[in-house]
Amino acid sequence: MSDNFIGKPIPKNVETRDGVVAWRSPSNIALIKYWGKHGRQLPRNPSLSFSLSNAHTDTQVSYTIREESQETASVSFSFEGKKNAAFEARIQKFLDSIVTNFPYLKNVDLDIKSQNSFPHSSGIASSASSMSALALCLTDIEYELSGKATDASFFLKASYISRLGSGSASRSVYKDFCVWGETSLDEKYVDEYAVPLDKVHPVFEALHDDILIVSSVEKSVSSTAGHKLMEDNPYADIRYAEARRKLVALAGIIEQGQVSAFGKIVEEEALSLHALMMCSDPSYVLIEPASLEIINEIRKFRKETGTPIFFTLDAGPNVHVIYPDSVQKKAREFVESKLLIHCEDGRHIFDRMGDGPQKISYKNKI
Ligand code: DP6
Repeated sequence: MSDNFIGKPIPKNVETRDGVVAWRSPSNIALIKYWGKHGRQLPRNPSLSFSLSNAHTDTQVSYTIREESQETASVSFSFEGKKNAAFEARIQKFLDSIVTNFPYLKNVDLDIKSQNSFPHSSGIASSASSMSALALCLTDIEYELSGKATDASFFLKASYISRLGSGSASRSVYKDFCVWGETSLDEKYVDEYAVPLDKVHPVFEALHDDILIVSSVEKSVSSTAGHKLMEDNPYADIRYAEARRKLVALAGIIEQGQVSAFGKIVEEEALSLHALMMCSDPSYVLIEPASLEIINEIRKFRKETGTPIFFTLDAGPNVHVIYPDSVQKKAREFVESKLLIHCEDGRHIFDRMGDGPQKISYKNKI
């Protein structure tokens, strides 16, 4: 497919100037997981997620225009107030890879500052919030330099660029639920960028995600290596077909407000992801005994009380406890009394569905 988001050079007739932009972008939790990719960061199956509120990254990009063109932008990067050479190298590589999408990068020096709302060693993946915050800033600079007003395609391009940085980041540029990847649900869902899911029953409008930190130790397999393992996984084709089927089913369930059916698919999906990792070669067991204790407690509590409370997992041991706002009091009491004891030093983040990314105004810049 052709690239819809090739950018234009800085127009000669527009008066360009140095500037600074900043965005806050959230993390998101996938309910149907992206696991397996090909080509230039294209997903093997569609995924469906919702954006969070409290787990987010703030990124500020200051740009200085250079008269003479170079191959790519030059970048200096600091994370949480400190220069970070490893992240800087990763960002430089990313910028080099998107020069055709943002030709202005040949004419700028960038100074990037970034900080997370959650501790770096919390076991919370930060690539979705950090790459989407950066992509929003880069898209914003393109709009500023070309004198374009923000339009509907702003977020599509930001999602497209986020995807090139980290697949799951493509889903962080919207509030509420969104879908990334082709699905028989509707032609508007494509592999190149994420699109909001528009038909949502009120019961799912303010979902909670209590993130229980079972271990803050860095993951033993990176997402990129994990995606690669799918290439030789004997169950890969069945998995992709199942993910497509589950996504269509889940979208219908979200539209109709069927809470128990929602939980059934969400939990099955989380366990499938870990089953795939367990039967990859090499095999990875990323779940910990405490993760299983939490899962068992959730199932027991749900059975005994009828409370709609469910779990999902990312590619690690931490458990995301998902429930509708209508049962918040009961669910939170249960989490506090029965689940936090299984967390590493009681660590957790009480999060919920969020309002999506926000531009940080000039006076609040970091
Ligand atoms: C298990 O987006 O981190 O969280 O594209 O290589 O950066 P890269 O991978 P990444 O993969 C996320 C995998 C997941 C599921 C999901 O968020 O959909």
